[in-house]
Amino acid sequence: MKLENKIVLVTGASSGIGLDLVKALLKENMDVVAISRRIEEIDLNHKRLTKKNFDLSKQSQIDAMFQFVFAQYNRLDLFIANAGFSYYEYASGSDWKHIEDIFRVNTLSVLYSATQLKAHMKDAPFNFVATASAASFLSMPGHALYSATKAALRGFMDGYRLELPKHQKLQTVFPVATKTNFFNKANQSNKPWPVQTSEHVAKIMIKGIKKDKKNIYPSKLFKYGFKLTPWFFALYMKRQTRLFHRTKNKKIEA
Ligand SMILES: NC(=O)c1ccc[n+]([C@@H]2O[C@H](COP(=O)([O-])OP(=O)(O)OC[C@H]3O[C@@H](n4cnc5c(N)ncnc54)[C@H](OP(=O)(O)O)[C@@H]3O)[C@@H](O)[C@H]2O)c1
Repeated sequence: MKLENKIVLVTGASSGIGLDLVKALLKENMDVVAISRRIEEIDLNHKRLTKKNFDLSKQSQIDAMFQFVFAQYNRLDLFIANAGFSYYEYASGSDWKHIEDIFRVNTLSVLYSATQLKAHMKDAPFNFVATASAASFLSMPGHALYSATKAALRGFMDGYRLELPKHQKLQTVFPVATKTNFFNKANQSNKPWPVQTSEHVAKIMIKGIKKDKKNIYPSKLFKYGFKLTPWFFALYMKRQTRLFHRTKNKKIEA
């Protein structure tokens, strides 16, 4: 899609990949609506930037977000559903609420937003982009719930795409570990490998959006290596599993 002078909404815009997307999209001469729970506190100002706090774990807040955008612009050309988080933990201790909390933000809010965008835009063209994760293919120890939220998201995007006309495009992004606050917030002290910068991920996302790519892979190593060198990923998962048990068992003993 052509980006110039279009309206874009980015969720999870207050830090990491979302914040770098906002900065890069402003450079593309777009009107940017940036959303998160605390975006209004972020010191980033631009005449084409609108910052608005919404908590995407709640349906009423997502409805209010759509009302706000359509009252302001009466259209939304590009929606980037990027907000998300993880817990680094044994899934065995999770109660219903804990599981529900992560599915609400990472999965339900994205599925609902995709269907709401269609309801508001009717037959007009749009692109809807969802930040999934490499973990949607490769379920990570310590991130089992997270990986499940992203695998469900991938399934939805693949099926819903086939229901829409060609001018309403769904695009899914599969970042590998990225240097953001994500791991601190998840309570993961061991450093993941390999890591990319959020600037790089934002740049590859924008390149993929412009080319209307269905699937966007910020890491070539993952894109090609996952299919061509399964032995490498088997070794990688062994390492990640060892690291997870070592880190979390130490915490329990301490
Ligand atoms: N970092 C990685 O290694 C990695 C790898 C693959 C995929 N991803 C995915 O990339 C996306 C961006 O993550 P990131 O790495 O940039 O992490 P991040 O820096 O922690 O950013 C997460 C963003 O989500 C927002 N958010 C969280 N809960 C929210 C809620 N209930 N309502 C509204 N906004 C909410 C946060 O803002 P507030 O706190 O202001 O609400 C923040 O802006 C996520 O979907 C993540 O799963 C990340």
